[in-house]
Amino acid sequence: MSLNFKKTYKFAVKSALYVTLFATGFAAILAYFFFKQHRSDLIAFCLVFAFSLYIFAFFVIQYRVEVFIYRRVKKIYDDVSFLESSTFRKQSISTDMATLTREVKKFATDKKMEIETLKVREEYRREFLGNVSHELKTPLFTVQGYLSTLLDGAMDDKNIRKKYLQRAEKGVERLIFIVQDLDMITKLESGNLNLNMTEFNIVEVVQNVFDLLEMKAEKKNIILSFDNKYPKAIKVIADREKIQQVVMNLIVNAIKYGKQDGSVEVGIEDLVNNKVIVRVNDNGEGIEKQHIPRLFERFYRVDKSGARAEGGSGLGLSIVKHIIEAHDENIYIESQFGIGSEFSFTLEKSE
Ligand SMILES: Nc1ncnc2c1ncn2[C@@H]1O[C@H](COP(=O)(O)OP(=O)(O)O)[C@@H](O)[C@H]1O
Ligand SMILES: [Mg+2]
Repeated sequence: MSLNFKKTYKFAVKSALYVTLFATGFAAILAYFFFKQHRSDLIAFCLVFAFSLYIFAFFVIQYRVEVFIYRRVKKIYDDVSFLESSTFRKQSISTDMATLTREVKKFATDKKMEIETLKVREEYRREFLGNVSHELKTPLFTVQGYLSTLLDGAMDDKNIRKKYLQRAEKGVERLIFIVQDLDMITKLESGNLNLNMTEFNIVEVVQNVFDLLEMKAEKKNIILSFDNKYPKAIKVIADREKIQQVVMNLIVNAIKYGKQDGSVEVGIEDLVNNKVIVRVNDNGEGIEKQHIPRLFERFYRVDKSGARAEGGSGLGLSIVKHIIEAHDENIYIESQFGIGSEFSFTLEKSE
């Protein structure tokens, strides 16, 4: 341990001076009254006395102060650096009060900021848990409702039995979707997202998603198509699986919030700086202006009532945003209420 006293003598100098002045004056008065000394002897006595006392007092005080303060300062350093070793790195310990005060102040400010962030995080955690249980409740109660009704006798009726079991299964499916989304958002938000960057054809990815969602679209008689023919591959560099998830979430929304007999169109265009932009258009219900800034928030939904047939978890777009941001790309929304919406995002083109 390097002990580096940055000595301050001022304290000892002054203290020794006060002691000396008092003691010398006192001794002079005593000597004058008790021994009736001559003036000159008295002055000589005072000088010798003052000088010796001063030297002695100075060293004693200086020594005591150093030991005393050093111990306490060191203790403070030790206590504080025990809490936060990075703030108090291997600095030499000093009895210099100014430095110590500054350090402790800085330490306190840092701690305060840390506590603030922790509070925000705690708030966030509470809100998140509240939202999660709220999301899970609806489908769970649905499933429970159908199962109880079946057990209470409905299972004796063959037609009802099948219908209720199918509805219960739907509820379970929804639960699974929500849990998958939660899993994904947790991974994304904890920053544990390792992008697996590869070169792939974005046209093919969109076509895959079309194929996967064909049945869903057919139920509302919605046509999924490209805005143009894309005979040539458009190669991009990104995490293929994650981008497929993005396209999937956007097209699922376009179908979900699209109108009966509507259409969903995907376009892929070149942009400046070696980028492409992928646009997902629908002619569905559109989004009112005031909702747009909040769409990407976790659990945010325009229609809060659980009554809607196909409620999602409200996580789809926040997953999309996380993935696009992890790629250092941008996402845009344009929407007109009652007319339709366009969600678009950029990707890095490969040479
Ligand atoms: N294509 C779209 N057209 C209209 N509204 C949309 C569209 N996409 C998203 N929204 C609105 O944004 C909200 C959030 O979307 P999202 O995060 O995917 O959650 P979810 O689909 O689970 O409700 C939706 O509830 C919906 O109100
Ligand atoms: Mg969605």
